[in-house]
Amino acid sequence: KETTSTTPKEKTRIDGIKSKSDAEPPIERPEKLNKPKKPQVAPQATNSKFKPAQQARPKNKQTEGPRYSQQAQNVPPHLLKKRDELLPVRKSLPIWPQADVIKAALKTNNILVLTGETGSGKSTQLPQFLIDEPWCTKCIAITQPRKVAAISLARRVADEMGSFMGSQSPAAKVGYSVRFDNATGPSTKVKFLTEGMLLQEMLRNPAMSQYSAVVVDEVHERSVNVDLILGFLRNLVTGQESASARQHPLKVIVMSATADVGSLVKFFEDSQPSPTTEKPPGNPIDESTSLKQAEVASQAVASRISTCFVEGRQYPVKTVYLPQPTQDWVESALKIIFQLHYKEPMPGDILVFLTGQDTIEGLEKLINDYAEGMDKDVPKLLALPLFAALPQHAQQRIFEPAPFRTRKVILATNIAETSVTVPGVRFVIDCGKSKIKQFRNRLGLESLLVKPISKSAAIQRKGRAGREAPGQCYRLYTEDGYNTMDERTIPEILRCDLSQAILTMKARGVDDVLNFPFLDRPPREALEKALLQLLHLQALTETGSISETGLKISKFPLTPTLGRVLVEAAKPERDCLLDVIDIISALSVENVFLNLVTEERKEEAEEARRELYRREGDHLTLLVTVQRYAAEQTDRKIWCDKHFVSHRAMQTVMNVRKQLQQQCMQQKLLSKDDTQSELAPSEARSQAILACMLRGFISNTARMMPDGSYKTLMGNQTVAIHPSSVLFGRKVEAIVFNEFVFTGKAWARGVSVVQLDWVTEVVKAIM
Ligand code: CDP
Repeated sequence: KETTSTTPKEKTRIDGIKSKSDAEPPIERPEKLNKPKKPQVAPQATNSKFKPAQQARPKNKQTEGPRYSQQAQNVPPHLLKKRDELLPVRKSLPIWPQADVIKAALKTNNILVLTGETGSGKSTQLPQFLIDEPWCTKCIAITQPRKVAAISLARRVADEMGSFMGSQSPAAKVGYSVRFDNATGPSTKVKFLTEGMLLQEMLRNPAMSQYSAVVVDEVHERSVNVDLILGFLRNLVTGQESASARQHPLKVIVMSATADVGSLVKFFEDSQPSPTTEKPPGNPIDESTSLKQAEVASQAVASRISTCFVEGRQYPVKTVYLPQPTQDWVESALKIIFQLHYKEPMPGDILVFLTGQDTIEGLEKLINDYAEGMDKDVPKLLALPLFAALPQHAQQRIFEPAPFRTRKVILATNIAETSVTVPGVRFVIDCGKSKIKQFRNRLGLESLLVKPISKSAAIQRKGRAGREAPGQCYRLYTEDGYNTMDERTIPEILRCDLSQAILTMKARGVDDVLNFPFLDRPPREALEKALLQLLHLQALTETGSISETGLKISKFPLTPTLGRVLVEAAKPERDCLLDVIDIISALSVENVFLNLVTEERKEEAEEARRELYRREGDHLTLLVTVQRYAAEQTDRKIWCDKHFVSHRAMQTVMNVRKQLQQQCMQQKLLSKDDTQSELAPSEARSQAILACMLRGFISNTARMMPDGSYKTLMGNQTVAIHPSSVLFGRKVEAIVFNEFVFTGKAWARGVSVVQLDWVTEVVKAIM
């Protein structure tokens, strides 16, 4: 049974990921744990290669240490000690011998495309190579697709440089900036930031004059944000030859773990946007030679663009497939984890790729249950989840060494595919799926679907097992399954709702979005749909330029839909901004309520949560949950346990809530003394809150039909109220809902009751 979960146009972006549980297969206990055969592996010699374009390789003057380090004053001895300890590790990275060549390439050229396997040292070393270059008088920005990577890289580079992090101290050379958390100071020279943050900075300072170099890392992930950044940077570097505002031209370094160099070089070479749709080269992927394509591409580069290739250090990894396909990959993963644990010597951590928070937490619980029953003489197992919505301190735990006689099992989403290097991993278990966004133009709905990954993603996952020693990769699918996978993941921009991307472009003054230089041009229909959606939200004017409301929305790290809800709630006649912030914060996590497996526990939870449930629906239920949690004075963890609420999720919710409140204050929508929403909202207030929701989520409204079913007002799609909703089984005249879920049939999830009059009024106003 292939189950899928869908979100409609709306997706909370606050913490990068919001995924849904419906897609997960049922979690059951395995009956028996069989022992696997020990695989045979042989070590393999490795080498490192580098080819600068059209450039003689300068003499490799191996430096004894970094120069910037000598400039730092008042650096405490413990930082210098750590720096010195890490220097040999840095020197052993494949990229280290190429430092001088990279510097030389950027001396003469403004653009560098650098490819190299994950772990070869690109993200940590490149900024340190460049920091003392004569042209590098300002800060270096390095973008990351994920918050956890930006923060952990900043910490690592700060350690390697003997630097404080983001403080006021002159010795604080390294910092980071991620949504809702800024750790930079006046002396910051190396700044890791999420792609979203760089885009926000580009809106404020289009010339990027605060930077000497912008490094766009992990380009192969091809997030929409990376595509926008590349488009803006291309315009910037193309125009900068004539511009004299800068003392030194901006250097742009594009880094990727895969070899699609050709299209990147071509993209920067073409000074005119191409009106045709271009697909990335569709060469079949060969596991052993994929990166070698980079060398070929590097032969054909223009003079102002350099390309470099660093071959990673990769030990052989044995691949084990399942003999038969399975839907119960949580169970299969559990079996393999224990087989490995009993059979394989320590050290050797296990990295498991799963699809989302619910499967991860389900497996985490099963591992802990089983581990309790292990004999005392068996080493311990430590299960560590890793997904984007996890609170930061929990994410950072994966980087800490395991305690004595303990094997780490990291349960991750595709966040660990290339973004995050987890040291110590020898075994990879790959479920072969991931959640991806898919936008359906016809329905105007964005869905989050569990889909098979591509071959290139499977290769990346496997590679994680062979970074430090020979490894093993257990694919929870058959070899035939692998052979039928797509070669590459389709870039997000070709399959997602583009309204947020277009609003960003409009806010940056790009009027003609249809002719923006896209690395891959999205279908015209998708662009037009997004423009229409923004018009409906009044984020654009009739002439297509950005409106006052649109500008306000663009300043929030939210989808335009949620941004519109916030702006609506701040209007004096609505006056419910704090409540709406609470609800949006709760929507930023996958689920504030614990997902329970057995019927008995489910009933128990229903009873315990009854006092939180509101008859108006799920939005107000979330509001009450956040309010009660926030007001809890004694022990929030106990409160959560009592109400079957996830304490972990609530910690994230509280962080997002605080940040959103601060941003509303900055935008003067909220005053400083206003931080606690009024407990137990009155009926009038509840109605105001739902009216705000409706203003943003107008495409996600449905009315009841004579036969008791619901049909969406825009799109005429039949939907049913999801069993997880407090409104499940109720018949009401109209509903507004948060997302669309497919599990055999179309469900509306996160549902509230609204009056049909309100809905028709809003629909009339925008049509
Ligand atoms: O960017 P790339 O994937 O090529 O490599 P990197 O992120 O610069 O990582 C190089 C090495 O630094 C890794 O193999 C890790 O040993 C180490 N590292 C770390 O210990 N902690 C981090 N947060 C990041 C990197």
